Amino acid sequence: MKRRSLIIGGAAALGLGWLLRPGERGADHSPYFRDLSAALDTAQLAKPTLVVDRSRLLANLQTLLGHVAGRFDYRIVAKSLPSLPLLGTVMEASGSNRLMLFHQPFLNQVARRFPQADVLLGKPMPVVAAHNFYRQFGGGGFAPDKQLRWLLDTPQRVAQYDVLATELGQDMQICIELDVGLHRGGVRNDEQLVAMLDLITQSKRLNFCGFMGYEPHIVKVPVGDARDYRDKAMAVYQHYIDVARGHLGSLWPRDVLLNAGGSPTYEMYDEGSYPINELAAGSCLVKPTDFDLPTLADHEAACYIATPVLKCLDTLEIPGIDLGAVQSLWDPNRARTFFTYGGYWKARPESPEGLINNGLFGRSTNQEMLNGSRRIHLKPDDWVFLRPTQSEFVFLQFGAIAVYDKGAIVERWPVFSEQPA
Ligand SMILES: Cc1ncc(COP(=O)(O)O)c(C=O)c1O
Repeated sequence: MKRRSLIIGGAAALGLGWLLRPGERGADHSPYFRDLSAALDTAQLAKPTLVVDRSRLLANLQTLLGHVAGRFDYRIVAKSLPSLPLLGTVMEASGSNRLMLFHQPFLNQVARRFPQADVLLGKPMPVVAAHNFYRQFGGGGFAPDKQLRWLLDTPQRVAQYDVLATELGQDMQICIELDVGLHRGGVRNDEQLVAMLDLITQSKRLNFCGFMGYEPHIVKVPVGDARDYRDKAMAVYQHYIDVARGHLGSLWPRDVLLNAGGSPTYEMYDEGSYPINELAAGSCLVKPTDFDLPTLADHEAACYIATPVLKCLDTLEIPGIDLGAVQSLWDPNRARTFFTYGGYWKARPESPEGLINNGLFGRSTNQEMLNGSRRIHLKPDDWVFLRPTQSEFVFLQFGAIAVYDKGAIVERWPVFSEQPA
């Protein structure tokens, strides 16, 4: 190729590349985030803070009750709302005393604070964890023999819990985990179910109280129709009910608990009849980004991480060979740089709109770099807001939740602690 055509070709490629540059995005805080910033300032907050919008939380709860009430009982998934006052607020507003717990220290805290609660474990616990619950249980109004339902998945675990129950002289309610298609454990065949039921029936201390069959896969499988997966899951559920009823006869509990559902799937049971009598959900009340799903389109985000901006630069500089200038020349959304107080949470930047992480500079839990376009006019000490991708672990990282309601931080809600109750 001639030198001239090479130069022309190169220039054309550069020109085309230039045309393909990302478009400029970005905007300053909307009135909602301006008001939230002012509320945080008024409350004298100046560190990374987890904010829950109480009006939105309660609106989400009304949405949920609109789907569930009158059709199923509602069980509140405590791991996704990991704070006693937050759970108390949801229990009061929903009228439900049913909780689903997944962690032994939190279980002790719930038993102490909510003596009226009906607690179902959401996963099978090592028998030593169960023992630790009873060891740390300080008594009070909560009666574990009636109000606590351990979730067990295998005959081996039933045998272990029987030994513990005998040793402690403690009656225990046992719920059996079913595999209705998720394949994350639980009963997978009739023999296993019958073996578990026989061990429970023979035990002097264990009582069978029902089933839990979690089915989030029905909305996650990439091929096929979610309704078909739901119907398949419910057919498996019904099958195990039939097997257990047939096997237990008059020992089938009159007030049997038949739990299913979770935030992504609970709206799939609005119509039709199903073998279950209870739906569990928690995350949809605060709606982290993992729950931006078509099945939760009528729920609103109600939780944010708020963190102060520490430093602002009108450039992008990356140490070493300064690729920062090239990056910002190519992408107008990297024209400015902000360093925030903390970072690298399981969360996505939300406001100001258009903020992005910088993979080249890297992530930091101490001072995180964010880039944005010249349409973003943040100053040091302004607030940046992120949306958690999930609530269960993220909520625990900031100390007490700042409760925001119509323009003000109105309360602080301590989160669950790893320390014994
Ligand atoms: C057994 C079980 N039920 C229900 C849920 C639903 O919780 P959420 O509504 O917070 O997604 C979960 C979540 O992990 C679960 O493991």
